[in-house]
Formats: sequence, C-alpha cells, structure tokens
Amino acid sequence: YSLLPYNTFGIDVSAARFLEYTSVEELKKLIVQGAVTTPFLHIGGGSNLLFTKDYDGLILHSRIEGIEVTEEDDRFVSVRVGAGVVWDDFVAYCVEHGWYGAENLSLIPGEVGASAVQNIGAYGVEVKDLITAVETVNIQAEERVYLVEECGYTYRNSIFKRPENKATFVTYVRFRLSKEEHYTLDYGTIRQELEKYPSLTLSVVRKVIIAIRESKLPDPKVMGNAGSFFMNPIVPKEELEALQQEYPRIPYYELADGRVKIPAGWMIDQCGWKGKALGPAAVHDKQALVLVNRGGAKGSDIIALSDAVRASVREKFGIDIHPEVNFIN
Ligand code: EPU
Repeated sequence: YSLLPYNTFGIDVSAARFLEYTSVEELKKLIVQGAVTTPFLHIGGGSNLLFTKDYDGLILHSRIEGIEVTEEDDRFVSVRVGAGVVWDDFVAYCVEHGWYGAENLSLIPGEVGASAVQNIGAYGVEVKDLITAVETVNIQAEERVYLVEECGYTYRNSIFKRPENKATFVTYVRFRLSKEEHYTLDYGTIRQELEKYPSLTLSVVRKVIIAIRESKLPDPKVMGNAGSFFMNPIVPKEELEALQQEYPRIPYYELADGRVKIPAGWMIDQCGWKGKALGPAAVHDKQALVLVNRGGAKGSDIIALSDAVRASVREKFGIDIHPEVNFIN
C-alpha cells in the first residue's frame, strides 16, 4: 500500500496494511473484530512525518468528518469537529461564519485530529487556546473525553504524543470560538502586512497569514516538506544573555516561566545552511527551519541533512536542536 499520498515529505514508502474509518462506531467495530493489529500507526494528514523505511504494519487514518455547533450565545460558539476534517477547511469555515480565534492558524497543513495531538501553533496562537475537549477511543474500544486541562499542552506537545498513548485515537475535537471581534496581531510582520488593506476584518487577517506563509513555506505539492523540521529550543535566560555577547541581534521570545525560545531557523541560517543541499535533501532557501525533498529523497537522506545541521548549530551556538517531525522506523 503506497504511502506516497499520505506523507507531505513525498517519501516513496509503503505499508503492509492500511485502514480508514468514517465514524466512532466503525473504529470500535474494527478494534473489537481484531482488525487493528500491532504494530500500527495512526496518521493524520501526514504533514509531520518522516518515513525512514517501508512500514511493516497497519496504518490507520480517520475519515470522520463534520463540523457541528453544539452550543452558542451572543459571545461564543462551541463546535465539535471530526478528526478527519482538513484543518484549514475548519479555519476557513470559522472565518466565513465570523468566529474569531483560529484565523492565525490559516493554511497549516494537516487534519483536526492531529492538530490536537501536536498543539499546532503559528503567529502567536496555539490550538490549545481554542480547544475545550478532545474525544478519543482507545485500543480497548473505550471512549474517553479529555478536558483541555487534562491534555498536558505545552509547545508542540501533549499527552497524546506520549508512547503510552500511542493507542489512544482522537475522534473529535471540541473548540470554543469567539463571536466578538478580536485579533492577535503582534507577531512578526502581521501589522505591517495589514497596512496594505483598507480595513481590518477576519478574512483580511486570514489573507495576510496565508500570504506570509506562502512567501516563506514551500508548498508540499510542489516540493516535499513537513513544515518546520526542528522545534525552537527553549533555554534559560542566562544562556541567551551569554549568546547576546557575541550575537547582539539574536531574536528570541520570552516565555511565561522566564525562559526564552530561540528561533532555530535563525541559528541554522547563521550557520550558512539556508538554501544548501546535501544530495536530494536541502534546507529551504526562504526559511531555514524547513528541510525539503528536492525529488526522490529517502528518509535517510533527510536524516543525514538533519544531523549535519544539528551538528553545525551545536558547534556554533552550543545548543542542541531537536526534530519536530516524527521519525517513523
Ligand atoms: N529567521 C531567520 N532565518 C530563517 C528563518 C527564520 O533569520 O531562515 C528568523 C526570522 O527573521 C525571525 C525568527 O527567525 O526573526 C523567527 O522566524 P519565523 O517567524 O519565520 O518563525 P519560526 O520560529 O522559524 C515558528 C513555527 C512555525 C510558525 C512560525 C510563525 C516552530 C517549530 N515553528 O517558526 O510553525 O509558522 O513560527 O508563528 O515553532 C511548523 O510548526 O511547521 C511551522 C511552520
């Protein structure tokens, strides 16, 4: 079973088996009938995966669709969204309906289920800010709803990424959006880009976010990639201050706990990697945090480049950066 259409990196691998389901009932039935055999891997849109070889097991994929309003008043709306809904279709739906909160997350590849596993984020917003609960089914075919406080959300992380939750499948995600006009605009060049438009509206913000992303991030349909390949490292303030002696222009974001997040893309760029290739793998020429498949790359080609980039950053800045993308062996 070819996984080429199921990984945005465009790695040509296959799986021994592949199963999709369209409802919670169908998933539970598959489990009870014993169709979900180990090893298995539940994927979403495949936009955060790197297959390193053929997968000798079962790939599961949710096709649970639907966006359903469960509660609303003048100020808020609660919606329940199927894990298989394409993330950006949901954002577009929110913007069309005048619901505020998701617009900064426009054009992020992937599906709603994975958004809640990965805590996707961009331009000052993380999906945990919008989630109220996550509905799941486990490998015993038991349903459980996790309230947002129970999901352990941190930067690009949640309890659903822990190995012991590998057999907990997200079926629906519940979100709360605002009907009152409000925006998050204090990131990078958003305000500057907004000046090109006569007025500030939800759809204008979506347009601006899409334009910023399209100018920096490669389209996976044109060149295989999985968005940011590395996470931005979080370090103690003292470590930043030491680096500022040598690099006074180093960018950083202060976190609530007093630590700082340093853009790995900036460090990789400083190491001279931007636009450089190593065989069929390359560092994207417009955003050094993204590794791309120039065509025909194997997982091992991407890993060789990743290792070389990590070694450079370690040598120059004394900081270890870690892949954000999940390697599947
Ligand atoms: N920078 C450079 N050179 C580069 C890339 C970045 O100097 O090649 C500098 C920029 O000038 C800026 C800073 O680094 O000062 C941060 O860059 P940017 O705003 O592009 O964001 P990022 O930290 O590189 C993160 C997310 C992205 C998200 C953007 C916008 C992670 C791992 N990545 O990237 O998320 O879109 O912020 O919020 O946190 C993803 O996760 O796949 C992803 C694309």
